[in-house]
This record gives sequence, C-alpha cells and structure tokens, in this order.
Amino acid sequence: MFRLNDNYLKLPGSYLFSTIGKKVSAYSAAHPDKKLIRLGIGDVTQPLAPAIIQALHGAVDEMGKAETFRGYAPDLGYDFLREAIARYDYRERGCNVSPDEIFISDGAKCDSGNIQEIFSLDNRIAVCDPVYPVYVDSNVMAGRAGEYNGATQTWSNVIYMPCTAENGFVPEFPRETPDMIYLCFPNNPTGAAVTKERLQEWVDYANKVGAVILYDAAYEAYISQEDVPHSIYECEGARACAIELRSFSKNAGFTGVRLGFTVVPKDLKCQDVALHGLWARRHGTKYNGAPYIVQRAGEAVYSPEGREQVRKQVAYYMDNASYIYQGLQEAGFTVSGGVNAPYIWLKTPRGMTSWEFFDYLLEQVNVVGTPGSGFGPSGEGYFRLTAFGSRESTVEAVDRIRKIRL
Ligand code: MLT
Repeated sequence: MFRLNDNYLKLPGSYLFSTIGKKVSAYSAAHPDKKLIRLGIGDVTQPLAPAIIQALHGAVDEMGKAETFRGYAPDLGYDFLREAIARYDYRERGCNVSPDEIFISDGAKCDSGNIQEIFSLDNRIAVCDPVYPVYVDSNVMAGRAGEYNGATQTWSNVIYMPCTAENGFVPEFPRETPDMIYLCFPNNPTGAAVTKERLQEWVDYANKVGAVILYDAAYEAYISQEDVPHSIYECEGARACAIELRSFSKNAGFTGVRLGFTVVPKDLKCQDVALHGLWARRHGTKYNGAPYIVQRAGEAVYSPEGREQVRKQVAYYMDNASYIYQGLQEAGFTVSGGVNAPYIWLKTPRGMTSWEFFDYLLEQVNVVGTPGSGFGPSGEGYFRLTAFGSRESTVEAVDRIRKIRL
C-alpha cells in the first residue's frame, strides 16, 4: 500500500489566498448585486507595457518560422536575458553579479518554495513574523518545520522573528541561532523597508553564525528612499552568505506571464561545496526553462522604452499606495508601509481580530483585503491592503472604508 508524504497533512487548511478566494466567491454567490473591490492578493491590474507587448508579438512570429523557431530553452535561461539583468539590476547599481550566477525561472513564488530543497532537513529556519506564507509552508511540506501548535499558530522547528510596530517591522537577531534566514525587503506583507546599514548588520550576522540568507527582493522596484538597498549584494560580504530572489510580476506586471530569477553567487559555499552547482543541478533536472517568448518579454523590460513604461506603472501603483495611506490615516486608522512597497499595513479597529475585520469589511463595505494573522501570529490585529488596484477602485475603496465608524 502506498504511503503519503504526511508532512502535507500537517498543513492547516488551504493556502492563504485560496482560503480568501473561497470566502469571497461564497459571498459573491450569495450577494450577486454587491460590487466588490478586491485589494486582497497583490495582483497587478495595469495591462502589459507596449514595449513588452511588442517583444511578445515579435517572439511569437519567430516561433512561427522554421529559421527562427526555438525548442527547449537553456535550462538556466537565455544569455540575452541573463546579461540584461546582470547589467541593469546589478552592475549599474555597483553590485558584482555575473550573468552565469543568474538562474531564470517562471517566478519568485516557485523559487522561494523550491530553494529549500538544496539544504539539509536538519537546518533550522528563521522567518520574519508576519511572513509570505510560501517560506513556511514549503518547509512544512519538506518536513523541516516540526510540529504545529494550533494555540500559538507556530511550528516547533521554526524560529519566528516578530516584526512589530515597536521594531519598525524590521526583525531583531533571533535568540536561537538559525541556519537559513528568510528575509523579504521591501516587505510583504507589512510594506516595511530595511536600511542599507541594517541589512549590512544582517549580512555580518549571517557570515558570523554561518547561516545563509534567502533574500526576497520581489518588491525592489517600489523603493523610493535613498538609504534603502535594492539588492542584498549592495552589502559587503553578501556574496558569501546570500541568495537573492527576484520577480517580474510586480515591477512589470508579469503575474499572468510568469518570469523571475534567482541569484546564487559562486562564492556562496557550505564548507567547500558551492551552492551554485547544486542549484544548477536542481534547476537542470526539474525545470525545462522559461519560455523563449516570455524571456524576450523580460528582456524588453530593460529596453529604454520598457524601463520608462514600467517606471510609470510602478509610480501609478505608488500613487494608489499614498492615497490609501493618507485616506486611512485621516480616517483615524494606524497605518504603515506604502512608501517603499505597494502594501499598506493597518491596525484593525476596536480590537477586532484580523479575520473579524476581514468579514466586517467584506460584508459592510464590500472591500476585500488580507487578514494579517494569515501571515503569522504577529500579524494578528493587522490587515493588509494592496495598491495594485485601478485608481478608480482604490479611491472608491478608501471612500467606503472611511465611512465605517471606528
Ligand atoms: C501576495 O499577495 O502576497 C502576493 O501577490 C502573492 C505572491 O506574489 O505570490
């Protein structure tokens, strides 16, 4: 009789955004007349920029001719895209990352879930709390997280690093020493950013204790402040301790197109084994490469027109972020985030739990957000709104929320 990977059975309920999706669908089915505004999952709403569409059309045409048709993509990515990334995302920012240290994939969600595979199951992971659920869930599936404690909503083998209003939503070094540290800045869900000085301290800490940092920089395009680093490789010593994950979803609207990449520097070693070789082996075995058409679209993001067009889209979403921030602050909410990230993090009013406030907003004003407790125990009493809506729906959502009595 076959047996299951029973680590999957330990996972409580469904994935956060699936749970929200089911609740919202049930509400819509029961109230078809209500016009919902969805500021829950961080999904973009602006169409792909013209330079990207043009590149997609061009690549589709190439696939239709024998002379330019392409089959399997190189499993680590086409050189034209890896070179553009190395140049514009790293060299131009003074970071030493070479094209062959960049692994192209179909997005940061998969990479952040898969990267743990190259590490021992005995490693202890440390996560920010609250945190993007993929980091913890993928370690639960692998069998690294230990047992679930329903009362505290924590896993026994995971080190939680609370990110609270008191520490500006940037974690302190944990009391127990971790082996793998997940950091995401600008942060999902709190929208907090880390200064270069503070990130340097994390890099020094990781090098000192022999930990690896898994650095999720999916939201770097939203950084507006000077002292906030776009890449962990801006810090000295990061090449020896950090892997960086990036996405085209939020900076260029690829949530439905799918493209991302991971940087594994060749200097990053466990004793004398380079992680670069391990990730290349894993990628080559389990992945057949992102589609040619999509990688050409990714390349167009770095063209002069592409860069200008996606910059305008990011600015559009950031105008939404400041509209939400100001509107809710004026209405008496305690808000943060929204300056270097497209997420607004607010305290629930009247001591409501995160899910109580979710239901309240859904039913009273038909606005969908994300309950903070879905991201971890320290998210309880908080709520996340995304700035990725259209301007009209963002303005209307803020108007509706302002009308509720605190
Ligand atoms: C979120 O809403 O947290 C993100 O959109 C989810 C993701 O990027 O996978």
